Amino acid sequence: MKLLVTGGAGFIGSHFIRHVLRKYPGHSVINLDKLTYAGNLENLREVEREPRYRFVHGDISDAAVVRDAMRGVDAVLNFAAESHVDRSILGADEFLKTDVLGTFTLLEAARELRIPRYVQISTDEVYGSVEHGAVRENAPLRPSNPYSASKAGGDLLVSAYWATHRLPVLITRSSNNFGPNQYPEKIIPLFITNALEDRRLPLYGDGRNVRDWLYVLDNCAAIDLVLHAGVPGEIYNIGGGTEVENIVLTRQILRLLGKPESLIQPVKDRPGHDRRYALDCHKIHSLGWKPAHELGAALAETVRWYKEHEAWWQPIKSGEFKAYYAKQYADRA
Ligand code: NAD
Ligand code: DAU
Repeated sequence: MKLLVTGGAGFIGSHFIRHVLRKYPGHSVINLDKLTYAGNLENLREVEREPRYRFVHGDISDAAVVRDAMRGVDAVLNFAAESHVDRSILGADEFLKTDVLGTFTLLEAARELRIPRYVQISTDEVYGSVEHGAVRENAPLRPSNPYSASKAGGDLLVSAYWATHRLPVLITRSSNNFGPNQYPEKIIPLFITNALEDRRLPLYGDGRNVRDWLYVLDNCAAIDLVLHAGVPGEIYNIGGGTEVENIVLTRQILRLLGKPESLIQPVKDRPGHDRRYALDCHKIHSLGWKPAHELGAALAETVRWYKEHEAWWQPIKSGEFKAYYAKQYADRA
């Protein structure tokens, strides 16, 4: 099977490419990535010389580049996105360009080239905050920030291409991923790396917002299953089944690092901050997937990775990230 993976130099996409090349000797991968601040070819060092892997530097909103990269593939998996909520609050232009227009550009090319399978990698954030219970795939979309609104826009286009053009699309909506290689703007890698440097951990609001944590390799296994066995036109929720309040998660990270709780710094809340996400995952469970990693062990493994890979995150934190962080806290502190 010949795959086009977009956004493969980012966190989840790079894990997915390594997973596919390791597991399927007959599969090949083209990785189309714009290399934004979040794209990092270091994440793909172990496969860069692999003959079944090819990197294309380009934007998913560029129709010519997309058509070229997509010609002859058996499936497209769209991981490319602007993915950080706080950045979407500071400015949403790039979110709309990539997450909506970029998705549209991919869908148009897939329709023209009659691509047999298109998988859209989406998020539980499109359902908005879930006060009670858990949401199924047919729940209404109620995004509350510009990131989740742009992802919801992408999802609606994907579903429209199924209804109108019968393009064989599938959508995955996963909960919060964590693991090695995650850009240190997201809570887990930010807090681990700040604590390693004895810096404060900025905890938003009352710290009691709830996220359902999913180890990145479990998400890759679920996406793999949807790619190979999912039913076209269907949406699949993928949740870790591990709901944790941010304050509890933060204390767990500090414990693993042997650092004091005095590093926790309560800061002004994120505007439009969703209180809780919770997915009903019966559908993906019936397809034969469940998470294989337990939160405690996977978090310990993630902490160990960041401890041992300072050379990966130090240049990021002293580069582009620094300007972003200053802007973020000019607004929020
Ligand atoms: P990431 O920010 O780490 O990586 C995004 C990648 O997309 C980067 O390599 C970047 O260079 C690339 N990219 C951005 N704009 C592009 C464009 N216009 N053209 C081509 N490439 C472009 O993101 P991630 O955390 O790996 O998330 C991957 C996907 O999974 C996203 O669609 C995100 O919405 C979704 N998702 C993420 C999570 C999570 O917890 N991280 C959870 C659910 C869903
Ligand atoms: O739920 C899936 C989504 O998870 C993905 O679609 C997004 O791409 C991904 O970024 C993530 O979004 P969140 O906003 O949930 O993740 P983040 O790591 O930014 O924040 C997790 C929680 O931690 C949230 O309640 C906000 C809080 N937080 C975050 C940061 C960065 C803090 O308290 N302090 C922080 O500094």
